[in-house]
Formats: sequence, C-alpha cells, structure tokens
Amino acid sequence: MKPSFKKNYYPNFFIWEEFEYLINIRPLLTDSRVYVLGGDSYKWGNASWSNDKNCYPPSLMKELLDKHICYFSDMSRCTEKVNEFAKRLEDEYKHQTDAHIYICLNTELEHPFGAHYDLSDNVIIQCEGTTNFKVWDEIGNCTSSTNISLEELPKESVLDVDMEPGDAIWIPRYHPHLATSKTKRLSISFPINKDPIRIGREDREWIKFEP
Ligand SMILES: [Fe+2]
Repeated sequence: MKPSFKKNYYPNFFIWEEFEYLINIRPLLTDSRVYVLGGDSYKWGNASWSNDKNCYPPSLMKELLDKHICYFSDMSRCTEKVNEFAKRLEDEYKHQTDAHIYICLNTELEHPFGAHYDLSDNVIIQCEGTTNFKVWDEIGNCTSSTNISLEELPKESVLDVDMEPGDAIWIPRYHPHLATSKTKRLSISFPINKDPIRIGREDREWIKFEP
C-alpha cells in the first residue's frame, strides 16, 4: 500500500441517520466495542431483561460522545455497504479487515492519539463533516510506542488533505499521521489486520428478504 487520497471515492457511504439507528440499539453499545478516548470507568444500572450488563446506557453514551472522541470496533458488518467494502479490501490485500466507526462532535478536542503510526495498513472513508489528515513518510526504527511528537517529524508531509464526505485515504503501516476534525465528523477506518484471510475471515454473507 502507498499513501494516497481519492476525492469523492465513495459518496453516501454511511450517514448520520444510519449511525443514529445503530447507536440506539442499546445491546450494541458494549464497553468492549465502544472506545471512549480519554474516558474513565463508569457504573450504571440495567433493566432486568438486559442480556449484557456491560452496555453503555444511551444517555451516558450521548454525554460521552459530547465530551470525547469515540470509536466503535467490530463494525465491519454494520451496513451492507460497509460489509461489501471490507470484503473488497480483504479480497485485495488477503488479510482480515475490520471497520472502526469514529465520531468527533467537539472540534475543541485534541485528538488523543496525536500524531502516531499504526501497525496495520488503514483505509479511511470520510462519511460526514471535514477532517484534515496529514500523513508523513514511513519512519524507520519503529519503537513500541506508536505516538510521535510533531517536532520529530519532517516539515513536509506526503499528504495534507481536507477530507470531505465521500473522500478516502490510504495510510500504510508505520506512516505517521494526524487527524484534526474541522467540523463534527463521522468516518470509518478499515484496519487491515495482520491475520491472513486463509486462517479465517468474517462471514460476508448479507441476509436479504424479498418484499
Ligand atoms: Fe491511526
């Protein structure tokens, strides 16, 4: 994978209304799926029928979304389009691919990751709002920490783009990057896992019903 950016690559990929539908399914909000960046630990009560007691209540979830950048993991089957796109990446790169839904509602928040590199290749589709992405060239001597201070990075980035709905970016592993939301933002990041598809992959069958 090479760093690249494509304008208007996949319009209407995933919209606020689809996210609204998902986030109101309370059993989907397990604390192992929902990452609240810079969040704390929380306690809450549950209705007697709750099968999973570790799901954020929606009112707490709303409060956390207002105060933190959050992402939802294990979402590669959240819609038919997301499932199809994850399958496309798996077929192309031959590695298992998840989808992480990122939400930032407050542009005052500094991204808790700051500039960092990842250990997996990533494709990101901007779904709503505008986010600036800077990507720098691959760094050598990667340490166990994936965070990097801006002073350590060269002045020139290889990509510096304002991502708008439908735009996509390819960020290879070990390439430092920094995301800065300029407006409320909803995006989906597809981390291409180190596990090859030959040892198992998500079932991409999409169940449909004829009317
Ligand atoms: Fe990243």
